[in-house]
Amino acid sequence: MYPLRRNRRLRQSEAIRGLVRETIISPNDFLVPLFIVEGKGVKEEIASMPNYYRFSLDLLQKEVKDLWDMGLRSVLLFVKVPDSLKDNSGTEALNADGLMQRAIKTVKDIAPDMLVMTDVALDPYSSFGHDGIVSEGKILNDDTTAILAEMSLSHANAGADFVAPSDMMDGRIFEIRSLLEDEGFHDTGIMSYSAKYASAFYGPFRDALDSAPVDLKNVPKDKQSYQMDPANREEAIKETLMDIQEGADIVMVKPGLCYLDIVRDIREAVDVPVAVYQVSGEYAMLKAAAEKGWLDHDAVMIEQITSIKRAGAQIIASYFAKDVVKLIS
Ligand code: PBG
Repeated sequence: MYPLRRNRRLRQSEAIRGLVRETIISPNDFLVPLFIVEGKGVKEEIASMPNYYRFSLDLLQKEVKDLWDMGLRSVLLFVKVPDSLKDNSGTEALNADGLMQRAIKTVKDIAPDMLVMTDVALDPYSSFGHDGIVSEGKILNDDTTAILAEMSLSHANAGADFVAPSDMMDGRIFEIRSLLEDEGFHDTGIMSYSAKYASAFYGPFRDALDSAPVDLKNVPKDKQSYQMDPANREEAIKETLMDIQEGADIVMVKPGLCYLDIVRDIREAVDVPVAVYQVSGEYAMLKAAAEKGWLDHDAVMIEQITSIKRAGAQIIASYFAKDVVKLIS
């Protein structure tokens, strides 16, 4: 066919590359994770996540307004809970006046049309740092899902648009959907962390929320009995299809970059939107390499986000959301 076809003709200028580009990033792609703490006037940088912060509710207002003004329209809320309020069953998670419940209202007050998603899992509230109730070295599945459903209801009551269970217990989507329906929350959505791997990339996040599993006898030392084995692919599809059957509106693959094969598999296997969580360790790796001058931060960031979208993600939860939007607008 050469020279009738020369592929380089379509790469000669930014104009032609723009015309034929297959993957375009926009502010609509992003879900912005936000870390929230008690207190007043608090904006503290997370040590292992440079330029990412925990906000108290008063300063959260300004942050949310800034996001809105930049065209970012969806947030995913996480709270850091004081140790004094933690116990084995996450009792504080159900407090109608708890930090998460107040955070939801704070966001809605300042930006009523901002889509608010909330993290649903016990770990920030757990004295053992686990996503489920611990009993004699094991994680109790069904007792945990009952609490996760109550937690979701509490978030819906406070005004959350979507709940996002990140725990990987069996049957939690069914329990959550059933309770929301029974209580009349037909429009409250569920974004399920459906293929969430037992990844070593979550370290900085556990620093951010002080939520790592504690080192105690009779407490599982890691999350491998509920999060997925990074070696598995078929299982991710099975997990995801089950969550859709149970009522998930959006499914998720997590982490991002190391799992883009899974993202493509799932995108092709399902008929609901697919989200990807580019997690804290992915953020920290790039920040650290850029700080050393070893990588071009902005170029690598755009390449990573583009790759996640190209692999099949329709929604990207990313700590880079603001940086990306600043760069492309
Ligand atoms: C916990 C939860 C984790 C993340 C989101 N929800 C950590 C974990 O499972 O231990 C990780 C996010 C990140 O690393 O950015 N339910």
